[in-house]
Amino acid sequence: MSTLPPGVERILFTEEQIRERLKEVAAEIDARYQGRTLKLVAVLKGSVFFLTALARELTVPVKVDFLAISSFSSRAGAPGVVRIAKDLDDSIEGEDVLLVEDIVDTGFTLRYLLRTLAGRKPNSLGVCTFLDRTSKRIVQVPVDFRCFEIPDRFVIGFGLDYHQLYRNLNCVAVMKV
Ligand code: IMP
Ligand code: MG
Repeated sequence: MSTLPPGVERILFTEEQIRERLKEVAAEIDARYQGRTLKLVAVLKGSVFFLTALARELTVPVKVDFLAISSFSSRAGAPGVVRIAKDLDDSIEGEDVLLVEDIVDTGFTLRYLLRTLAGRKPNSLGVCTFLDRTSKRIVQVPVDFRCFEIPDRFVIGFGLDYHQLYRNLNCVAVMKV
């Protein structure tokens, strides 16, 4: 999808900028995991768009697996309680796992995922995020690879949704919300 939806204020990253940056980050990942097989793990649904684009740029052998989570908030503004709604299909014990995220914001989701996956004894556990909004971080989490740092504005596209829409936008855009 390349037609901008209503409510878009401006494009933050074009399709071309994203493609170029993905190649750079893929080269960093290739260098780090040379000679090994990577298991890319992503959370449904947003991160799937980034994962497939990234995987196609990697030269190290990759496997992929997915999980889904649900977040609940007991009161408005409180950090969400996260639980696994659909688990990975396979064990990650002894594997080199790279957790692929669409965006790291407060860090609560990522912290929960890292704790859960670390308990399954992978050989290594890294994090690669498409977008990073460090200005909103509440809990400190390790990010090994990032494509773009973004301002404190709501964004859509390349997997990121607004009420489940616009994930298939080829660019990343700022919404007027
Ligand atoms: P957090 O790091 O636990 O706060 O959670 C990040 C999650 O919030 C992401 O996986 C997205 O689903 C969602 N999210 C945060 N910021 C945005 C945004 O700007 N656009 C769309 N979704 C967002
Ligand atoms: Mg979302």
